Amino acid sequence: MPQKVTLIATAAMGLEAIVAQEVKNLGYKDVEVENGRVTFEADVSAIPRANLWLRTADRIKLQVGKFKAYSFDELFEKTKALPWETYIPEDGEFPVIGKSVKSKLYSVPDCQSIVKKAIVERLKQRHGIASWLKEDGAFYRVEIALHKDTALLTIDTSGSGLHKRGYRTGQGEAPLKETLAAALVQLTNWTPDKPFVDPFCGSGTIAIEAALIGQNIAPGFNREFASEEWDWIPQKVWDNAFQEAEDHAKYDQPLDITGYDIDHRMIEISKANAMEAGLGDLIQWKQMQVKDLRPKQENGYLVSNPPYGERIGEREEVEAMYRDLGSIMRDHPSWSVYVLTSHSNFEKIYGRQASKKRKLFNGYIQTDYYQFFGKRPK
Ligand SMILES: C[S@@+](CC[C@H](N)C(=O)[O-])C[C@H]1O[C@@H](n2cnc3c(N)ncnc32)[C@H](O)[C@@H]1O
Repeated sequence: MPQKVTLIATAAMGLEAIVAQEVKNLGYKDVEVENGRVTFEADVSAIPRANLWLRTADRIKLQVGKFKAYSFDELFEKTKALPWETYIPEDGEFPVIGKSVKSKLYSVPDCQSIVKKAIVERLKQRHGIASWLKEDGAFYRVEIALHKDTALLTIDTSGSGLHKRGYRTGQGEAPLKETLAAALVQLTNWTPDKPFVDPFCGSGTIAIEAALIGQNIAPGFNREFASEEWDWIPQKVWDNAFQEAEDHAKYDQPLDITGYDIDHRMIEISKANAMEAGLGDLIQWKQMQVKDLRPKQENGYLVSNPPYGERIGEREEVEAMYRDLGSIMRDHPSWSVYVLTSHSNFEKIYGRQASKKRKLFNGYIQTDYYQFFGKRPK
């Protein structure tokens, strides 16, 4: 087992700083933040811990090497010089995927097959195998990512992307990725003792992520990870990480979280998803149109991803909803309101200038996260 590993938590554009903060909160100090990724060095237990706990990262990759490569020979030799046998056993299955941006070696299929050949040679030599490698064991997805002639070689530890928490039984037309929903909640000052509402809840992602955060439940608790099959990570290390997650969960933390949607089918889906997430009936779900929203408590948080009105014919309807929401929330100045939308005129229609705005991508759609801070009692 290696003493130390270099891990990369990949992040959607705009979420890097939030992922970095989460990595630091797990206790890892030397954190390097670049576009799309957060790199940190840690002991092996960070593989289960990061996979289990990081709410906003896409994947956790293990960095095997990083070097300049201007020719295929250089790529081959430098790849072969890396200690692949430390990570991939003689029966390991290791497909190679690739990407290349602004690099001399631009043919991705060629880069992939060169990296594959180099790893095969290295493993045969080091594991002492004369024939071919069977590749019928655990799964190690290798990636060669070239950027400005720097080759980064990694192995994916997560398996499916970390947004797949394992609770989504159904979804609507435009579900938010769980990682982005968690980021939206983390970008607020909400604390679990405060009311929380999503009036356009769809399949319930934002409310469910808020409940997981509110009870400090590890988002990966309900799923499996590719690296659970790797025999160089002792079972004890995984057991400890799962035990730590269990010990830190605050199942007794009361929550006041409600999701509303105009579509009763979405309410059924939200209920099923919350059940699957192990939240039982901790979240209240109700069919309601936004114009009937009447918050009863003070100092609450409204966090939502309403329709954007990008489709022809939808715009007027969507603008009416934004207007209704603005006029309802004007009567509740102690509430903080957070809305993610791509509508460029949102503030004007809502009727108030945002306290803060943040650019975020929802998939490929460029959006703004409008943040209206509630008035605090003096
Ligand atoms: C972009 S989706 C929300 C997706 C959600 N964040 C998720 O992860 O599944 C917008 C939701 O607003 C709902 N909606 C549309 N008009 C509404 C209205 N007037 N009042 C309340 N909900 C409405 C739609 O049914 C849809 O589920």
